[in-house]
Amino acid sequence: MRRSLLTLSWILLRPILFRLTAERAHRIIMGTLGRSPRFHAAFIRMLGGPPSSPGPVQVGPLTFASPIGLAAGLDKDGEAIPVWPALGFGFVEVGTVTALAQAGNPTPRLFRLVSEGALINRMGFNNEGSERLAARTKALRKAGRWPSVPVGANLGKSKLTPLEDATEDYLQSVERLKSSVDYFTVNVSSPNTPGLRSLQQADALNELLGAVIPAAEGLPVFVKFSPDLEDEALAEAVEIAIQTGCTGIIATNTTRTRPGTTGRLNEDGGMSGAPLWPLSRDRIQKILDAACGRIPVIGAGGIRSAAQAQELLDAGCVAVQLYSGLIFEGPGLVHQITDELRSPVTQSQT
Ligand SMILES: Cc1cc2nc3c(=O)[nH]c(=O)nc-3n(C[C@H](O)[C@H](O)[C@H](O)COP(=O)(O)O)c2cc1C
Repeated sequence: MRRSLLTLSWILLRPILFRLTAERAHRIIMGTLGRSPRFHAAFIRMLGGPPSSPGPVQVGPLTFASPIGLAAGLDKDGEAIPVWPALGFGFVEVGTVTALAQAGNPTPRLFRLVSEGALINRMGFNNEGSERLAARTKALRKAGRWPSVPVGANLGKSKLTPLEDATEDYLQSVERLKSSVDYFTVNVSSPNTPGLRSLQQADALNELLGAVIPAAEGLPVFVKFSPDLEDEALAEAVEIAIQTGCTGIIATNTTRTRPGTTGRLNEDGGMSGAPLWPLSRDRIQKILDAACGRIPVIGAGGIRSAAQAQELLDAGCVAVQLYSGLIFEGPGLVHQITDELRSPVTQSQT
């Protein structure tokens, strides 16, 4: 019954929000949640009841309260951190943040394909910068309001920083955030920052992870890959993640390709949501095969049901993340998934 109150609230809200542009709806929601995150967390808990985790998951030194996490990009600046665990997420990723605050690409830059259940975005890492996120996360800790689930910061390169200085840009964010977040994700896979995805190439990735991991001083470091990497490049990137000592791999980010869409909306950018699933599923399997259990893999890309989450967990992913499913299915989705997941979760990797 209580779960259905959360679903009911979405049935009422969705038609109103979907009349607005996708970015405006996002700004209204984030602005509202960000103004009083603790109040909203309590309200959501009241509507949705306590999360029914199928059990905690150990990933390196981190204990995820459940295997369902919030993917990067929804709460780029960490405005509403206390809200996400209340929705049932067992771990939370904020960002992408960059060393420099930046406005991102001109609007419109976020599009809904409602019938396909997809989003196309070319946001371009709009964010207030890692210094601002550090101030927010430190304040939360100081006030004793840090969530009981791990919160990681997803890091990217500032647009103004030349590609050859990318490592320095990431390091600056690591330095600012390492005392206040629980883990880092090195994002080398967003399609909307020119050149960023070339950091997935062997030499560049080796240099970047080889610098970030020691700088994180023991904090877990994940690396996030694109679904558009070819088999060989993907296998090579997996090896580098293992050899440099990454805690885990997150895959996948959005795709520049357009599988399963009508092409009706021919916007440039990265596509996420339902049509991404077959591609991300295939790429995740390639990563699992290449990794052979040597590194934990967190699956993402088009997850919208417990069956899909379960499929990835059964295939060997230690956890999954989602974003677009929440936009189409609403805030009850995480509870719906965790309620249905088989318990206990057997995967536990270090
Ligand atoms: C509007 C939007 C913004 C995103 N921004 C980021 C980002 O800043 N950093 C990142 O690593 N991934 C970003 N993502 C990708 C998601 O984290 C996720 O990897 C991808 O959308 C696939 O999952 P999904 O189909 O469940 O959304 C973004 C996705 C969307 C839809």
